Amino acid sequence: MNTRDAGSATKAEEVSGTYDPLDPVVKQNPYPYYAKLRRDEPVKWLEGLKAFSVARYDDIDVVLKDSEIYSSAEFWPALLGEYDPYPNDPPFISMDPPGHTHLRKLANKAFMPSRINLLRERALAIANELFDDIVKKHGPEGEFDFAWDFAALFPVTVFAEVLGIPTTRRAEFKVWVDDIIAAANRASYGPERLAQIRKSSDTAKAFFEELYDERVNNLGDDIISTLITAEVDGERLSRSEVLSTAILLLIGGVETTTNILGNTFLELHRHPEVYDRVRSDPSLIPALLEEVLRFNPSVHIIFRNTTRDTELAGVKIPKGSAVMPLVACANRDETKFSDPETFNIDRKIDFPLMTFGQGPHFCIGNYLMRMETRAAMEVAMQRFEILMPVSSDNVEWIDSYFARGPHHLTVRYKVRNP
Ligand code: HEM
Repeated sequence: MNTRDAGSATKAEEVSGTYDPLDPVVKQNPYPYYAKLRRDEPVKWLEGLKAFSVARYDDIDVVLKDSEIYSSAEFWPALLGEYDPYPNDPPFISMDPPGHTHLRKLANKAFMPSRINLLRERALAIANELFDDIVKKHGPEGEFDFAWDFAALFPVTVFAEVLGIPTTRRAEFKVWVDDIIAAANRASYGPERLAQIRKSSDTAKAFFEELYDERVNNLGDDIISTLITAEVDGERLSRSEVLSTAILLLIGGVETTTNILGNTFLELHRHPEVYDRVRSDPSLIPALLEEVLRFNPSVHIIFRNTTRDTELAGVKIPKGSAVMPLVACANRDETKFSDPETFNIDRKIDFPLMTFGQGPHFCIGNYLMRMETRAAMEVAMQRFEILMPVSSDNVEWIDSYFARGPHHLTVRYKVRNP
């Protein structure tokens, strides 16, 4: 079930009721609930998820930087359960230092800004090709579903490029990612949906195994080859480490980027004065994207487990508890961001956004994601005289309690110089 965003309330006083990320009303618009949590319940037991939520910036910072007490080991098993393609070889997002540090150093080789910058021309070309297809299909003006026709296809096409495989397989990637991530909601699905998730998990695994076996004897400059040959202190990644890293990158990098593009257009609809400014001065695109990453990010909740009894914000947390830092809530913490409930692309940021986490697991893909979304927005602003959601009310959100983005987003458009 996807939820609809009915309103734009942002203040704690504007909601009654209690924060429960599984509640459709909260999913519609979690922000006033976040304000209430920061004010009244910085650490709260969530009965539905059997976990403690953490709302304030400083407390989240403590959790994310202390892997000894707040372990990531349960992240992947909790998220994917029996649908994890590599249950015996967890990817590094689900490991603690020092094991994490070693794998992360090796994977960093594939994400160096110098490598990512080389991809910019391809990202611009991919954005242009996708808009060409849309205009071919719908004509020089009209409406299309931005969430699917562009935002969903753009990062999977870039990922196909990074893997060095034909883009014809990109739609399959999207299905695998959607299905594997949906495993987080496995308790609420019937046998048919679960069988589909199983199939996607198995197919993705088989796909990457075949690709590995092909590349290991035929190295190129794609990401699998880079992971195979990456070396730190004389050590390399094993086959299963390369494979579980590749699947992590697919799952971590595709939907997050799709959703932030959708959220950007929602904010442009809600703030037409910003849209006008960015259209007449595309150098404002990075500032626009940074404010969307703060104000309406695509990841809201991440996952940790306590390794011993502890206490946070005066609340006792027993050993073995699930803990959920609400990173999107931290981005509106009034002790860190001035006037945090206001969307302001001119704001001066004094503290790092919590959007990409903090500490050892800080998002490895943040530079890639910024390059991709900037390229997509630049092309969108160049190509269209008008490109605007029909509405930013009644948004049909994706079916997730920890990620946020529009499932569908009808936009009205008119090309420049048809
Ligand atoms: C708007 C886009 C994105 C958002 C909001 C986002 C968010 C995050 C967050 C919050 C974390 C920290 C998780 C934790 O502490 O447990 C993370 C880690 C990670 N992200 Fe991203 N991400 C984005 C894009 C990407 C992209 C494009 C990729 C790669 C293609 C990527 C790959 C990863 C990986 C591999 C990790 C694990 C890092 C580690 O454990 O050391 N992400 N991301």
